[in-house]
Amino acid sequence: MHQLSRQFKREGKLIGLVPTMGYLHEGHISLIKKSKELTDITIVSIFVNPTQFSPNEDLLTYPRDLDRDKKVLTDIGIDFVFLPSTEEIYSQGFQTYVSVDNITKKYEGEFRPTHFKGVTTIVLILFNCIKPDYAFFGQKDAQQSAAIKQMVNDLKYDIQLVICPIIREKDGLAMSSRNIYLSIEERKKALLLFKSLLKAKELIEQGEREVKKILKSISSIFLGEKTIHINYISIVNAETFSEIEWLEGKNNYYVLIAAKIGKTRLIDNILINL
Ligand code: PAJ
Repeated sequence: MHQLSRQFKREGKLIGLVPTMGYLHEGHISLIKKSKELTDITIVSIFVNPTQFSPNEDLLTYPRDLDRDKKVLTDIGIDFVFLPSTEEIYSQGFQTYVSVDNITKKYEGEFRPTHFKGVTTIVLILFNCIKPDYAFFGQKDAQQSAAIKQMVNDLKYDIQLVICPIIREKDGLAMSSRNIYLSIEERKKALLLFKSLLKAKELIEQGEREVKKILKSISSIFLGEKTIHINYISIVNAETFSEIEWLEGKNNYYVLIAAKIGKTRLIDNILINL
């Protein structure tokens, strides 16, 4: 990979990286298309990164279908897929990690305490292997994208990050590799996540600025829903991920939601530009 990257650089080509864990869907494909638009060579990495899963999570059952992924990538004209093995990435005696402090403390960080350390570490390793000029991430994992942005700024990494909007199913469910875990009933219930985010957006558009009131109103959507267990609903500053009490003009915010539906944990968010 180092050799190939060096060769592309010598040829003056811009390299775009789209890091993924595979089981590709339209969300991933939107990132790949953006990379094809902005760069000369798009490299998609597929690596189910063990360090971002905790022991009680779904590392072993995480959906995988490499043959299908390769076909999807060939069909959209991708020349290079980076498929390192776990042993290559985490060679024996591995002991160096990168972690981002404040941004990763709450929300996903609270429910998945070791997750972001694994994410920022693998992303930096991928950057170092591929040396991309651009890297593409999704707003779907807004806190992840914010943590990676912070890491790149803090460590002065010479790379351009592009954060792409959330791609949804026709009915509004945010695309995710984990959606296949949902039963038909759970899949229907999962729509309430996006519905609640739209409700928040609507209230804000109508002029509501008090976070407590907005959250109370959207929480009521889930009252009596026994299959949905809300982990958090919150409104945060989009750059710092700090919690806020009032929305103020000229700022960007995320309304965040995370919930367990049956055994499946889903996250979603909506960007608010005031
Ligand atoms: P994965 O879940 O495979 O997602 C890869 C990229 O696709 C992420 O940047 C994610 O935000 C983006 N993505 C997922 N669903 C999306 C959707 N519906 N619309 C737009 N973009 C979407 O995120 C990871 O993998 C890993 O943590 C990784 C960054 C690869 C590190 O291991």
